[in-house]
Amino acid sequence: HSLKSLHTFGLAAQSKHLISLEDDYSQIKNIDGPLWILGEGSNCIFLEDFEGTVLKLQSKGKTLKEHSRHFELTVNAGENWHELVCYCLQNNIDGLENLALIPGSVGAAPIQNIGAYGVELNQFVNRVYFIEIATGKLSSLSNQECQFGYRDSVFKRQLAGKVIITQVVLHIPKQWQACNHYGELSVLKEPDAKQIFDKVVAIRKSKLPDPDEIGNAGSFFKNPLVTNKHFASLQCDWPDMPCYSVDHNSVKVPAAWLIDHLGFKGKQVGGIQCHPNQPLVLTNNGQGTGIELLDLAREIQTNVEDTFSIHLENEVRLVGKKGLVAL
Ligand code: FAD
Ligand code: EPU
Repeated sequence: HSLKSLHTFGLAAQSKHLISLEDDYSQIKNIDGPLWILGEGSNCIFLEDFEGTVLKLQSKGKTLKEHSRHFELTVNAGENWHELVCYCLQNNIDGLENLALIPGSVGAAPIQNIGAYGVELNQFVNRVYFIEIATGKLSSLSNQECQFGYRDSVFKRQLAGKVIITQVVLHIPKQWQACNHYGELSVLKEPDAKQIFDKVVAIRKSKLPDPDEIGNAGSFFKNPLVTNKHFASLQCDWPDMPCYSVDHNSVKVPAAWLIDHLGFKGKQVGGIQCHPNQPLVLTNNGQGTGIELLDLAREIQTNVEDTFSIHLENEVRLVGKKGLVAL
């Protein structure tokens, strides 16, 4: 089965089996060998043929309950994230607008705690339901138990590859406050949710390549955390290096700046390119290979490490012939 159109990076890869799953989770009992759970494939890249079963989640449906102080949305994993954001806005449920146009499924959203323009999903997650692959048992975790962090959760750590998220329960407070402090959003004065939505969509369309036009998986690397001490020493050499404060001990440095500074914008290895406008995004012109992607990604990683002593961690999940692989 071709996986090319099932992941937004669009490398040519095949899987031995492909199962499309709507509601009958009992099918997982019969799967032997390596298993890869797939939503809309916007944060994983199949580097080569996968010697197992790809399980594409397509369970649809959502329910909405109104409580005195919040709306409760229970959404099945196969729903599209951006459509959910639009549905909320249309129904005067404000809060998700900063997360507009993030590709992918609702089921994958808690895994890396999707975030953009000053908002992260964990602000709204009440509970995540999942099936344990080994036992077929339905279980759930509260917001706290999900251990959300920046592009991180328990689903990327202890539970990675062990569960299938089936439903996400969101609590969206009725009391709404605009979040318009991030970058270009700050030009909006006392905006409503729709104005934030429109601005986020416009910024994203101007900055990020559209996967329908050129293969990509969004930011390839995470923005690294750097201790205050390390950052102070970096500033001696690069006084214009930007940073965002995180806590008392560390700051986040934009990986795009580091990669840009090293001159990687537009650099090509075969069919893979470091995007000329947003260097944190790597693209595939349709002819790229997994080896070319690893070559360019490792070259960037090594250069950043050698110059700044900063380790860039890949955000995108890389899939080899038997499953998850490290960069
Ligand atoms: P997939 O790529 O299908 O899967 C991602 C991972 O989750 C894999 O490890 C997969 O095995 C696992 N998985 C998927 N579904 C399930 C499930 N139901 N149960 C268990 N495991 C599962 N992310 C952001 O946070 N912010 C952004 O601003 C952002 N911008 C992006 C822009 C572009 C152009 C692109 C292409 C991506 C961007 N991303 C962004 C990344 C991506 O949108 C998110 O990571 C999204 O949540 C991935 O959803 P998906 O359904 O495509 O996941
Ligand atoms: N920058 C440069 N050169 C460039 C582009 C950016 O130096 O060519 C520097 C600038 O200092 C700029 C900074 O990088 O201010 C940040 O750039 P941007 O606002 O575009 O955001 P980002 O850090 O590159 C992150 C997320 C995105 C998310 C945006 C908006 C990560 C890994 N990426 O990107 O998420 O949409 O912020 O919140 O945190 C994704 O995860 O796939 C993704 C696209």
